[in-house]
Amino acid sequence: NLNEQYEEKVRPCIDLIDSLRSLGVEKDLALPAIAVIGDQSSGKSSVLEALSGVALPRGSGIVTRCPLELKMKRKNDGEGWQGKISYQDHEEEIQDPADVEKKIEEAQIQIAGVGVGISENMISLEIASPDVPDLTLIDLPGITRVAVHGQPVNIGEQIKKLIHKFITKQETICLVVHACNVDLATTEALQMAQEEDPEGERTLGILTKPDLVDKGTEQMVIDILQNEVIHLKKGYMIVRCRGQQEIMQKVSLAEAIEREKAFFADHAHFCSLYDDGQATVPRLAEKLTLELVHHIEKSLPRLEEQIEEKLEQAQAELVRYGTGPPSDAAERLYFLIDKVTAFTQDTISLAA
Ligand code: GDP
Ligand code: NA
Ligand code: MG
Repeated sequence: NLNEQYEEKVRPCIDLIDSLRSLGVEKDLALPAIAVIGDQSSGKSSVLEALSGVALPRGSGIVTRCPLELKMKRKNDGEGWQGKISYQDHEEEIQDPADVEKKIEEAQIQIAGVGVGISENMISLEIASPDVPDLTLIDLPGITRVAVHGQPVNIGEQIKKLIHKFITKQETICLVVHACNVDLATTEALQMAQEEDPEGERTLGILTKPDLVDKGTEQMVIDILQNEVIHLKKGYMIVRCRGQQEIMQKVSLAEAIEREKAFFADHAHFCSLYDDGQATVPRLAEKLTLELVHHIEKSLPRLEEQIEEKLEQAQAELVRYGTGPPSDAAERLYFLIDKVTAFTQDTISLAA
């Protein structure tokens, strides 16, 4: 039973990482996260928005121009949806999920300027809601080969460097997003993930746009999902997100999930993938949460080592400051007097 499994195993792990995060540990240690990588317009932002239930900037051309960290926390405190965006010196509460897209666009302009430039500075978006999975995801600019007007000629290299920076961390799970109507062998993202993670311990393949697959090539897609084309230890999943037309028609994310389910369940070729649990966004969310927990468990010894190291440093520092103040008011006075006396003597001996 997945729900029981969730409460028993997933919750404690996620809570641990969350409490570490809230202690500010992240500044010193890398905590587990999931990064999406792939070609431009392969559907990375669409997958993230489907997982989060929050509309993100997406479309053709370069839309994601800065790394976007999307921290989602499932909570049932009756307060409903809560959002917060932070970047550079800016921090702002977001009241309405419908404002997220606009706020991210503003942030990108602040960080990377108007137009088609990119930046490595991160935008952080925190969302708490009863309807999101407990996941931290990182959206990254897509891989391009040719600079468009207004972009530096080495834009492709810049983007790859940025992607490397994220996927090189042992704590990051790499989601390689790839469209069904593009030849898998041409994907550079998969190659990059394999370089950073040769054992395939933390790489998962996601196929998108199954509705746009060339008729007659469905079996090739199934072969990929069955891990028979480019083998990945963690395998592949397939999802269908909103196309450009559906976005223009304002099809909601909730409606899109219904459409996706019907698409796979009724599909002449892909229904078997649905039956096997390899298809749809909700299944992907489940799988990612479990993968993340597994990954956290594996990262814990390393994390513990790092924490112990930090603790030792802090304790050594504490010893240098001597004993702390007592709690009793009268004692505290004497304590202060002692400290002042010691300080004055130090100053005198320094001056002497
Ligand atoms: P990114 O550049 O990788 O972040 O890709 P986006 O998420 O911005 O998506 C690029 C375009 O593909 C958008 O117009 C999406 O609406 C469209 N798209 C994404 N997923 C699907 C899908 O499953 N089916 C269809 N038909 N279009 C999709
Ligand atoms: Na895009
Ligand atoms: Mg994008």
